[in-house]
Amino acid sequence: MADNKTPLYEGKAKRLFQGDEAGTIIQYFKDDATAFNAQKKDIIIGKGILNNLISAHLFPALGELGIPHHFIARTSPREQLVKSVEIIPIEVIIRNIAAGSICPRLGLTEGEKLDNTLIEFCLKNDALGDPVVAAEHILTLGIASPDDLVEITEMSFRINDFLSGLFFGLGVRLVDFKLEFGWLETAEGRQIILADELSPDNCRLWDIKTDEKLDKDRFRRDIGGLIEAYSDIATRLGLEIPELTPQA
Ligand code: TMP
Ligand code: ASP
Repeated sequence: MADNKTPLYEGKAKRLFQGDEAGTIIQYFKDDATAFNAQKKDIIIGKGILNNLISAHLFPALGELGIPHHFIARTSPREQLVKSVEIIPIEVIIRNIAAGSICPRLGLTEGEKLDNTLIEFCLKNDALGDPVVAAEHILTLGIASPDDLVEITEMSFRINDFLSGLFFGLGVRLVDFKLEFGWLETAEGRQIILADELSPDNCRLWDIKTDEKLDKDRFRRDIGGLIEAYSDIATRLGLEIPELTPQA
């Protein structure tokens, strides 16, 4: 367990520790829930365990599809071993249905099907409030190259197609989600791979029959029942849920 070590980095939902082998990192999933750039905060016991479980299931599934990713192994209920990457400081948002921040921003109604799947980029910068930017801003700021953005976009749409189908088969609509990518140094040069996590913390998931929200909007909007909703997703994915004990 990495519980007693000093983290390399502490984010809102995870702590990152050096792995035993060079080039590896341990991601420790916390129970901290934040929203609106951490203006709203709480601890929801077991959330980190469920996110670790779900993410550890989805990354290898994407790997089977040929998406390169950082995940190596889930090593404990709250930890997973991943490849060390340099995170590209953009959040990639894919939207199939209008929900969340895009509704007030563009005057859309929540639940409206978008005519085409939309990709948005946000700067990963808490001080600036993660602003939505155009691809041209990313190029101007020198964050990524045109080829990098083409690769990120293609991978993001493939991930969307796969995850939309996977969740549809489980009676769940994939409304939108956020991805992060990183640069991995390899003998052949720098490669872009999927990083961070994929969980109900960074996806909107609605039950197809009832439209019930099975994601972090239950926290953002004070609906309650977050653990039940995340557990429902894990169970539909066929995962065995460990005991949801508090974090160290
Ligand atoms: P938004 O509608 O609030 O912009 O969120 C779009 C998607 O991105 C949604 O699935 C939640 C996810 N997301 C994150 O994972 N992290 C964030 O900081 C934000 C704002 C959204
Ligand atoms: N994780 C983000 C934060 O605290 C927001 C969100 O997921 O809505 O700020």
